Amino acid sequence: MRIVVTGGLGFIGSHLIRWILEHQAAVEIINVDALTYAGNLSNLDDVVDDPRYQWHRLSITDRPGLESLFRDHGPIDAVMHLAAESHVDRSIQSGVPFVETNVLGTQILLEVARAFRVSRFLHVSTDEVYGTLGESGYFREDTPLSPNSPYSASKAGSDLLARAAFETYGQDVVVTRCSNNYGPYQFPEKLIPLFVTNGLDGEPWPLYGDGHNVRDWLYVEDHVRALWTVLERGHAGEVYNIGGSNERSNREVANTLISHMGLSQSVIVPVKDRLGHDRRYAMDATKIQKTLGWHPEVSWEQGLELTVQWYRSHRTWWQSIKSGTYKDYYRDQYGSVLD
Ligand code: NAD
Ligand code: TYD
Repeated sequence: MRIVVTGGLGFIGSHLIRWILEHQAAVEIINVDALTYAGNLSNLDDVVDDPRYQWHRLSITDRPGLESLFRDHGPIDAVMHLAAESHVDRSIQSGVPFVETNVLGTQILLEVARAFRVSRFLHVSTDEVYGTLGESGYFREDTPLSPNSPYSASKAGSDLLARAAFETYGQDVVVTRCSNNYGPYQFPEKLIPLFVTNGLDGEPWPLYGDGHNVRDWLYVEDHVRALWTVLERGHAGEVYNIGGSNERSNREVANTLISHMGLSQSVIVPVKDRLGHDRRYAMDATKIQKTLGWHPEVSWEQGLELTVQWYRSHRTWWQSIKSGTYKDYYRDQYGSVLD
C-alpha cells in the first residue's frame, strides 16, 4: 500500500509517519511537504534512511507538481491530508496564506487524487470548525459549522470541500475533526510548547485574557492512532470527531505545568486577549469510540510528563527554532508586554 501524507514534516504529520513506518510493515509513504516555517526536516531524522519513506518538497497548491508526483510514483492508494497553515494567531495577522493552503490547496489535492483514482482520501480537520461553546454542551459530528477565526474558517472551507467531493463525485472521502493536540515536536508558538520552552529558558508565560478559555487536550499519538483507524475502517462520506475528554482551562494547564516543572506562579503574565478568542471547545467522540473502537490511551498526566521530558532533553531542536526566524514573530506577538 502506498500512501501520500501531506504536511509530514509538521507536528502531527511527523508523528503519523513515524507511527505508520513502525506499525504498518506493508506501507510505503510519500511525504508531500512544502517545508514552511512550521515544517522541520529534523522531525523525521530517524526515518530518512527507511526505503519505505520519501519526502518531496512540494506545495499542495502546485497542481502540475502534484500531477507529476502522482504519475511518477503511482499508483497511490490513499491520501492522508494534514498540510495546513495551522496557527490561529498568525491567521489573525493575515488570513491569505490560510486561504491559499487550506482552501485552495485542499481543493487541488482532492481533484488530483480523484484524477489519479486514489481509493481513499482522509481529510484532517479540526474541532475549531464548530466555533465556540458556552459552559455546557459538546460538539457532535452534526453540530453546525460556525468558525470564528480566519484559521478555523479556512479549515471549515476545506472540510466542506472534502464533503462536496463525496456528495458530488462519490469520491471516497473521510473527515476527522480532532481537539487540541500536545506532545513532542510541537512548534513552540502553540500554548504547551511555548510555556514549557519559556519555562526552561526562564521566560514568562503570556496567558491570554482571564485564562478561563477551555480546550480538550489529546496526546498526539492517540490522534495518530485515530487517524489510522479512520483510514482503515471509517465509512466514506462520514465525519469522525476525535477528542481526549480532557477539558482544561488555560490557567489549569499553566498550573499543572508549573507543578511538573517546579516553577512558581509568578511565571504567568496575563496579557491582552486574542481577538475573537473561542471560549470553550469540547468534543463528543462517542461515534469513533462506539463504531470504530478507538479510545485514547495516554492520560493527561502521563502525556504532560512525556512532553516536558522531551522538551528538556531536546533543547537543540527548539532552541534552533526560537533563535531563527520565529524570533521575529515572537517579538512581534509578545515583545511589548514581556519587555
Ligand atoms: P503544523 O503547522 O505543525 O504542520 C503543518 C505542516 O504542513 C508543516 O510541515 C508545513 O511545512 C506543511 N505545509 C504548510 N503549508 C503547506 C503547503 N502549502 N503545501 C505542503 N505542505 C505545507 O501543523 P499540525 O499541528 O501538525 O497540524 C496538522 C493538521 O492537523 C492540520 O491540518 C491542522 O489543521 C490539523 N489539526 C491540528 C490540531 C493541533 O492541535 N495541532 C488539532 C486538530 C487538527
Ligand atoms: P493554541 O495552542 O494557539 O491552540 P488553539 O488556539 O488552536 O486552541 O492556544 C491554546 C489556548 O491557549 C487558546 O485558548 C489560546 C491560549 N494561549 C495563551 O493563553 N497564550 C499563548 O501565548 C498562546 C499561544 C495561546
